[in-house]
Amino acid sequence: MKEPVKKQILELKAKKNAVILAHYYAPDEVQEIADYVGDSFYLAKIAKQSTADIIVFCGVYFMGESAKILNPEKKVLMPDITADCPMAHMVSPGKIEELRSKYDDIAVVCYINSTASLKAKSDVCVTSSNAISIVKALPNKNIFFIPDKNLGNFVKECVPEKNIILNDGFCPIHAAITAKDVEDEKQSHPNALVLTHPECEKEILELSDYIGSTAEIIKYASKSSCDEFIICTEDGVNFKLINDNPSKRFYFTKNRPCCKDMKLNTLESLLDVLQTEKNEITVSDDLREAALIPLDKMLKLAR
Ligand code: 13P
Ligand code: SF4
Repeated sequence: MKEPVKKQILELKAKKNAVILAHYYAPDEVQEIADYVGDSFYLAKIAKQSTADIIVFCGVYFMGESAKILNPEKKVLMPDITADCPMAHMVSPGKIEELRSKYDDIAVVCYINSTASLKAKSDVCVTSSNAISIVKALPNKNIFFIPDKNLGNFVKECVPEKNIILNDGFCPIHAAITAKDVEDEKQSHPNALVLTHPECEKEILELSDYIGSTAEIIKYASKSSCDEFIICTEDGVNFKLINDNPSKRFYFTKNRPCCKDMKLNTLESLLDVLQTEKNEITVSDDLREAALIPLDKMLKLAR
């Protein structure tokens, strides 16, 4: 039934010299048709390098917005412009100013899951795959980590030599995974390794065998000699996990974490946006210039 839709997407993509980028949390059929699928860091790098005329970003708003900031000459479209990450708004600009006035040497480290206006007030961006190495590389002793308290706390534990001040933002999808859910899965699958995204709460991280970004979780499972895994992140990663590892088994916690915003990227909305070129992301020049500084710094430091 979806075949005519897929065919039209491929035809329009070629005709308009468009490239389709999808996050691992996008629906399976969108990951299947995308040119590039990855974690936030990989997709930001691809967006910056792209030579296509149109970038269609199947993710959430901060991802499309970052792609536009990194590659302003391109038309960046989103299948559904309302797909947003609630955590991206979870810090008040006033709090940033307060901490800047309290510490002379403070660096504001901004998880890429944030709005452009928050990035514009920050010194450097990070993703879950490079946050530890970037924080370590900064000369500053005092760090204000925004907006995610869980990733921030994970970095704090891995980089004890820094004074990392946490903000109280969080991802509602990852925060809904409870220790009891993980314990239950461990009981049902005693030989499985627990692989967890650092957006999960501290008590989940403590029950885990490995902590990493979506791409790192997939890589770890593929390389591991173990053949059973409990996956503590959004269920979209299952598509790549089972495709790359058909003989291995992957279990999710009972509520099967699902980011409804990521799932707004349907094949139908992808086709619609290729046909109409609606849902274009725009960023004002001033905002773009200010938000580009921390994004570029991330790309340089993560090299
Ligand atoms: P990754 O960079 O690990 O793909 O994470 C993005 C995200 O939104 C996690 O919730
Ligand atoms: Fe945001 Fe969480 Fe969805 Fe990732 S899974 S996009 S952090 S709400």
